[in-house]
Amino acid sequence: MSAKIISGKEIAAQIREELRKEVAGMKEKYGVVPGLVTILVGKNPASVSYVTGKQKTAHELGFNSIQDDQPEDISEEDLLSIVDKYNKDPKIHGVLVQLPLPGHINEKKILNAITPDKDVDCFHPVNVGRMMIGGDEVKFLPCTPAGIQELIVRSGYETSGAEVVVVGRSNIVGKPIANIMLQKGKGANATVTVVHTGTKNLEEHCKRADILIVAAGVPGLVKPEWIKPGACVIDVGVNRVGEKKSEKTGRMIPILKGDVDFDAAKEIAGAITPVPGGVGPMTITMLMKNTVKAMKDTLKS
Ligand code: GUN
Repeated sequence: MSAKIISGKEIAAQIREELRKEVAGMKEKYGVVPGLVTILVGKNPASVSYVTGKQKTAHELGFNSIQDDQPEDISEEDLLSIVDKYNKDPKIHGVLVQLPLPGHINEKKILNAITPDKDVDCFHPVNVGRMMIGGDEVKFLPCTPAGIQELIVRSGYETSGAEVVVVGRSNIVGKPIANIMLQKGKGANATVTVVHTGTKNLEEHCKRADILIVAAGVPGLVKPEWIKPGACVIDVGVNRVGEKKSEKTGRMIPILKGDVDFDAAKEIAGAITPVPGGVGPMTITMLMKNTVKAMKDTLKS
């Protein structure tokens, strides 16, 4: 039987609608809207496309959204003072510096300069620590892992007691999603295994998974025979494997492929995310959710 397709597009649209109403309500009640700045250094085409998507969504939800473009050769010192300016701006609740940064800039230094209260990416060590402690210590959750958790919960898969296998150990996806899944509470409480390039028998681990989360960045890495029948498969891979002409615009667009062989896997899995249209739309949506949270937290203090 063919798997249920988990549409990140549809689930993201539902959450955005919830956020849009919340933002309108807060504007009416408190006269404030969430403020998000996205800082882009240079013109890397993938980064331009990501920040354009973030700004478009922020605008649609009624945010005060600012796109701050900086030249490729900006100095580290100047970038730090831009971050500092937004850290101090009361109309801005979320500060995001799009990665990767050019080689002459120390990425860690820039990310650590964002005040943790406005770190809507949840990349700052203080927020990573809070996430790891869990419970009411959590300020933000990182966007892609938070989106993955929403996809699993909203598509009706039980995580409590489930065998969750995470393929990949990046700081942005693998490590945080493993951590989120092992916390106590709803949408978590799982038995988690993390496999990576140093793992001896990848296939055997994947075969045990009730929920398989793949974030390796290797197109087609996970073969259909590695999937337990009925498992929930979340494919985080967005690999550009070529280009094609868009039927809509006639322009050349990238051909995207996930880390899982989708066509074959969907005949075995119980549910699976497509690429594109799975995890991708959720990442931007969770960024918006974090920005709303950052704003709400300022009303409390
Ligand atoms: N570059 C690719 N993904 C991300 C992300 O989630 N946040 C930031 N800041 N940069 C990225």
